[in-house]
Amino acid sequence: MQRSRILGLGVYLPPRRVTNDDLAKMFDTSDEWINQRTGIRERRYAEEGVFCSDLALEATKDALKDANVRLDEIDFIILATLSPDVHFPGTACYLQKKLGIPGIPCLDIRQQCTGFLYGLQIADALIKAGMYKRILLVGAEVHSSALNFTNEGRDVAVLFGDGAGAAIIGASDDQNRGLLTMHLHADGNFADILMLEIFNISKKPYITHKSLDEGRQFPKMVGREVFRVAVTRMPEVIQEALQSAGVDLNEIKVVIPHQANLRINQFVAASLNLPEEKFFHNIQRYGNTTAASIPIALKEARDEGLFAEGDLVVLVAFGAGFTWGAGILRW
Ligand code: UT7
Repeated sequence: MQRSRILGLGVYLPPRRVTNDDLAKMFDTSDEWINQRTGIRERRYAEEGVFCSDLALEATKDALKDANVRLDEIDFIILATLSPDVHFPGTACYLQKKLGIPGIPCLDIRQQCTGFLYGLQIADALIKAGMYKRILLVGAEVHSSALNFTNEGRDVAVLFGDGAGAAIIGASDDQNRGLLTMHLHADGNFADILMLEIFNISKKPYITHKSLDEGRQFPKMVGREVFRVAVTRMPEVIQEALQSAGVDLNEIKVVIPHQANLRINQFVAASLNLPEEKFFHNIQRYGNTTAASIPIALKEARDEGLFAEGDLVVLVAFGAGFTWGAGILRW
């Protein structure tokens, strides 16, 4: 059976660095509080006027170069984000316009922190079915425009950063390389635990001055509940993936987890009895970039030489929905 493989990766991080001390000038927080609970020291914010599709465009250019694939070879675009350019149409359409490749299908997916893994599964299925040959998968976020920089929103505001990561997915020439398995889950019973309402479509009108005054344009989260469920589901789904691929945990070269909280990932490593060095982290520098976090981390880990051709790599994510998943790649 044809396998799909990541042919190349791209990253774009906006240049503006915002440290914990910078945030402490806006509301009551401290570098100590943020670092102790999350591991985050700084994050990047896009400037005024920059869209999600702009970050996605830069990450795409980087990925095309990395994959040595021409733009005109791309035959499908999947874009994962929770901070789209506009409510509709999808941001993949805006990215396609900026790339200048009209005509090919564009798909937005809304699986938040698990978006890149859902996108990878979709791309894999389309390639295995022989329908498309070179799929562009991008995770991109502009969180900084939708955070509440007051004491009321500080629990969420300190966590998130902007950025984009892209992958070019194609058929693998070597049957032993590529995506070996992917396991996705969701539980909508937890949908309201971490969400951004903005509007209420059941109301006429669906956005009011009152709803804005109430801060419904900002994300809200029951942080402790997210933490509690994440540290259960992430090891569980890694085990599920290992079992399905017939791979032993000791054979894994590196785990690339979604970067939501360093402490969550340390819990996951401990509960699997895996040395912490096997888990790659860059949350210290970027915060949680949601759909972008896994492709950014994957590229950085590869460039640092933490894995190479033939190595087994685990990808794992958990986030709003709740959605979660894990996959295993043979690089
Ligand atoms: O991809 C999924 C994204 N989300 C996550 O991964 C979130 C997972 N959860 C977490 O990471 C943690 O729950 C947080 C880091 C968000 C919060 O840590 P916590 O230990 O669960 O803190 P808490 O919400 O229980 O709040 C403890 C205290 C509270 O004050 P009081 O009531 O004890 O006086 C908060 O008001 O910390 C206060 N607090 C803050 N203090 C300084 C909340 N946010 C902040 C802040 N700076 N930014």
